[in-house]
Parts: sequence; C-alpha cells; structure tokens
Amino acid sequence: MIEENIIRQVLQTVLHPKLKKSLIDIGMIRNISTQGDVVTLTLALKNDRSPLRKVFIDEIEKAVTAVPGVSAVTVQVATLSQEEAEKLFPKAPLRGIAKVKQFLAIASGKGGVGKTTIAVNVALALVKQGYSVGLLDADVYGPSVPVMLALSNAMEQQGNMIVPREKYGLRIMSLGMTAGQNDAFIWRGPLVSKMIHQLLDQVNWGELDYLVIDLPPGTGDPSITIAQALPHCAILMVTTPQEVALADVRRSISLFNKTGHPIVGLVENMSYFLCAHSTQPIDIFGRGGGEKLSKESDIPLLGAIPLDLEVRQGGDSGVPLMVSAPDSATGAIFLTIARQVADRLPSCQ
Ligand SMILES: Nc1ncnc2c1ncn2[C@@H]1O[C@H](COP(=O)(O)OP(=O)(O)OP(=O)(O)O)[C@@H](O)[C@H]1O
Ligand SMILES: [Mg+2]
Repeated sequence: MIEENIIRQVLQTVLHPKLKKSLIDIGMIRNISTQGDVVTLTLALKNDRSPLRKVFIDEIEKAVTAVPGVSAVTVQVATLSQEEAEKLFPKAPLRGIAKVKQFLAIASGKGGVGKTTIAVNVALALVKQGYSVGLLDADVYGPSVPVMLALSNAMEQQGNMIVPREKYGLRIMSLGMTAGQNDAFIWRGPLVSKMIHQLLDQVNWGELDYLVIDLPPGTGDPSITIAQALPHCAILMVTTPQEVALADVRRSISLFNKTGHPIVGLVENMSYFLCAHSTQPIDIFGRGGGEKLSKESDIPLLGAIPLDLEVRQGGDSGVPLMVSAPDSATGAIFLTIARQVADRLPSCQ
C-alpha cells in the first residue's frame, strides 16, 4: 500500500522555477490517487502548451517512481482556472497607462459603421472641451487611424518606451504607424494579445484625462484583450439604424454586459442624409434603430450623426470634421456626444 503522504513529501522537490515554491504547495499538483503500484495525479498548468510541461512531468515521474513500491505514475494535465492563474501569477501593472484617468473604447459588433470616425471626432471634441486625450488604435487587423489623421509611419522611442505622436492636440498610437500603411495585418490570437498589451504598457501615454480606444469590428481577440486588461474601461457603442446592424451590436452589448464593462452610451451613425436640394432628411438606412436599441437595452442614446459628405472627406483627407468644421451642425453633434460622455465619466476621480 503506497501512502499518499509519502508521495506528497517527495513531490516537495518539484519546484516552480520562477515562483521557487513546490508545485504541490501552490496547488499545481492535485488529485493524487493510487491504485496498486500506480500513482495518478493532475498537473494544473497556466497554459497546457506551457514550455515547462515536459520538465514538470519528467521531474514528477522521477520523484514519484523513486518511492519504493511505485511502478508507474500517470500525469493528467489540466489548466488552472483564470482566478487561480491570476492569483499565482499576478500581472505587472501596465506602465504606459499608469496615469490615464479614464478609458473609453468605441465598439460595435459590426464593421464599417463608423467606429473609427467617431473615435477620432469624439476624441477631438473632448480636446476642444479642454481635456487631455489620447487615441489608441486597437484595430490591429486594419488600423485606419493613421489614414484618418494623415500620420506617416515614423516612430520615436525614449528609452524603452514608445512616444505617442501628437496631432490636433491628441496623443496617438497605432500599429499602422509601425509598418507600411498598405500592409495587411494578419495575426493570430496570442500575438494580437501581446501587441495590444504593448500598446498599453510600452507607449508612454503620460497623464491623460481620457484614452479613447478604437476597437476593430466584432468580439474577437483585440476586444477581449482590451476588456481583460482594462476592467474599468467604459464603452461607447456605435450602431447604424438598420435591423441587420442591430443584431451585431446586440451581441457586442451582451459581451460587455458579461464582462461587467459599463456602456456609457449609444451613438447612431449614418442616421439620415440631408440633401442639398431639400430640407427633409432622407432615412437611407431606415429610422429609429438607435432609439429602439436604447430602449430595449436601457443604454442612453447620446446622439445621431447624419451621413455627411464632410465627415467622409475628413476621413479620407486626414483632416477630420472636428478640425475642419467644428462649428458645423455635425460638429455640434460630436461636441454634444463628448459633453455627455464627460458628464457620465468624469475624468477627475
Ligand atoms: N456620418 C458619416 N458620414 C459620411 N461618411 C461616414 C460617416 N461615418 C463614417 N463614414 C465613412 O464610412 C467609412 C467607414 O467608417 P469607419 O472607418 O469610421 O468605420 P469603422 O466602423 O471604423 O470600420 P471598421 O469596422 O472597418 O473598422 C469611412 O469612409 C468613413 O469616412
Ligand atoms: Mg475602424
């Protein structure tokens, strides 16, 4: 009969190289059982593809099979729960954003609804109201902030930190500034997550009232990484009026409700078109989608932005509407949205 106590004792010699503690004491070895002369146990790793997996298994086998009476050991590999992993391996605070007071991510389940346009113009509207504002382009697959702000891809570094670019009073960083602007960014999950962490950790954002984050469409890796890294980040949700857009936006709302991120408001973009030949607005994409979504999800509708030629031209020319025509009717809408965001998310906390 093999005693579990003896197995526990010999396992004290199998240490985690970084934590310098035995795997058994920190709960990474569990469920020890014996059947005849075979010992079975579970090795719980942070990631089951961990490079330490083989090292640990070899050491466990060596230690356990040295016990008299043991002929073999079966190691079943499992993963630590997120809570266990965070407790054992607490993340270092992200240096670049240490002095940022508020985070505001611009999201929508849907592509092409105007997230980047709204991120850029709302960020500029916050600058107009006297706040210090940064703009982080987290659309690592297709960064369009550099085009919308006509930024070249030169980068400056200070020590081991990247200096964000300054334009129109904004501090800006985009991976589109690190490579040729026409490069296609096709990255996989873990790499995307690493890149986003670098944009928060290694970019010297300095003191900011707001860091506005332009998210890619959908609920994929970049959005999840931002949500995990910034548990207090508020969300500004963008939709267009038509039913097909609403379905995707609902999915995105549901993701952020699950992760517990506050949704500060909803913006309906491309709401209507004001034709030069008529005073009647034309509802190209239908009417009332934003209002409907606002009612059903209990998220305030902060504004409805028309389809405006100047907005599109601003996006293509690199001079956004909030720079070229801040006093226009559409400019006033962006200012109102920014004012409501600031009221709901005071930066001085
Ligand atoms: N209110 C508007 N009036 C006119 N054009 C607009 C408006 N909003 C956005 N656009 C234009 O629509 C296009 C798509 O906008 P934008 O890139 O901001 O969308 P997006 O949601 O960020 O897209 P993606 O999902 O690809 O990131 C751009 O050419 C932009 O200039
Ligand atoms: Mg975009």
